[in-house]
Amino acid sequence: MSERAASESANLRAAKKITTDATDSRESHDLAVVVRVGLTAEKKSLPPWLFYDEEGSRLFVEITKLPEYYLGRAERRIFEKYGEDIIVQAQANDTGTAISFAELGAGTADKTQSLLHRAVEMFGTVSFMATDTSASALDIAVERLHREEPSIVVTPVAAKHEGALRAIAGLPHRQFVMFIGSSIGNYVDADARALVSDIRQALLPGAAFLLGTDLKKDPSVLVRAYDDAAGITAAFNKNMLVRINRELGAHFDLSRFEHRAIWNEAASCIEMHLVSTVSQIVSIDALGIQVRFRRGESIHTESSVKYTEARVDALLKSADFSREISFYDDEKKFAVHIARAGGASALRDGTRVK
Ligand code: AVI
Repeated sequence: MSERAASESANLRAAKKITTDATDSRESHDLAVVVRVGLTAEKKSLPPWLFYDEEGSRLFVEITKLPEYYLGRAERRIFEKYGEDIIVQAQANDTGTAISFAELGAGTADKTQSLLHRAVEMFGTVSFMATDTSASALDIAVERLHREEPSIVVTPVAAKHEGALRAIAGLPHRQFVMFIGSSIGNYVDADARALVSDIRQALLPGAAFLLGTDLKKDPSVLVRAYDDAAGITAAFNKNMLVRINRELGAHFDLSRFEHRAIWNEAASCIEMHLVSTVSQIVSIDALGIQVRFRRGESIHTESSVKYTEARVDALLKSADFSREISFYDDEKKFAVHIARAGGASALRDGTRVK
């Protein structure tokens, strides 16, 4: 490691946790607002971020262990098998290039750890900026990485994407930003393009972007992944109603709603719905409203896009990235793509520069 890299990494090691209040400018994250808007619309919907209260986060961890939910395991295998190739590609095949690793929505960073471990074997020391909205998940990541991978200098950033991208924009070396776990799948069309474009704006030309996407496949495999035999995904979906009951004084009777996962071929996504099994009226005290449901009427709670390479290319191209290579698990269920930032402007330290 060069002297400059060593002193920068010492600075990073000394860095305090960065916390920012930056809010997502495009979408309201106010529970009362989204519930009122979503449940009084002609087609009822609720945003997927509502899943992740304490119980929802716990249930999601359970989902990742289910035999039907292959996504995390497949991506982990890709990192284990192709870690070195991924890192060399991120360096644009120039082994002398120093890299600043960063992850958006890192959570506890347990999946990224094998990739970072590989980087430690290659470079000795690695700087890793872990960003997430959950400060407690980042605490777990920092504690575990310090213990198990002491050569990784971790900078945790507790922030929403906007704040996280500002921090990433200030990284010293060639940026290598990861957005894994098929998280992009929960953003549809314009929202996915806007997010990838925001990521691009935080990067300098030549920076590397790693995107993990689930792939389009036999719908029966997909439906099983989102409607498992043990009913964990159903509990995860219904937990949204439990949360609204608790936080907004709503009166949803869980036995009167059914979890449903359906394949939407036209949009190439799995949709999750909560379907009212009877005609009913539900009061939400804190909003002072009563919501009427017809029998069979649904609340759309999540879309999970399943990508083809062409769709990945179109998404990346729309944001001035070009895909250089994709890595697949042996069953070709999941893909990890490495893309390069093109030559246009980037955001550094909060200012756009050419
Ligand atoms: C977080 N996200 C990538 C998961 C997915 O597969 O879309 C959320 C999930 N919903 C149901 N199961 C898992």
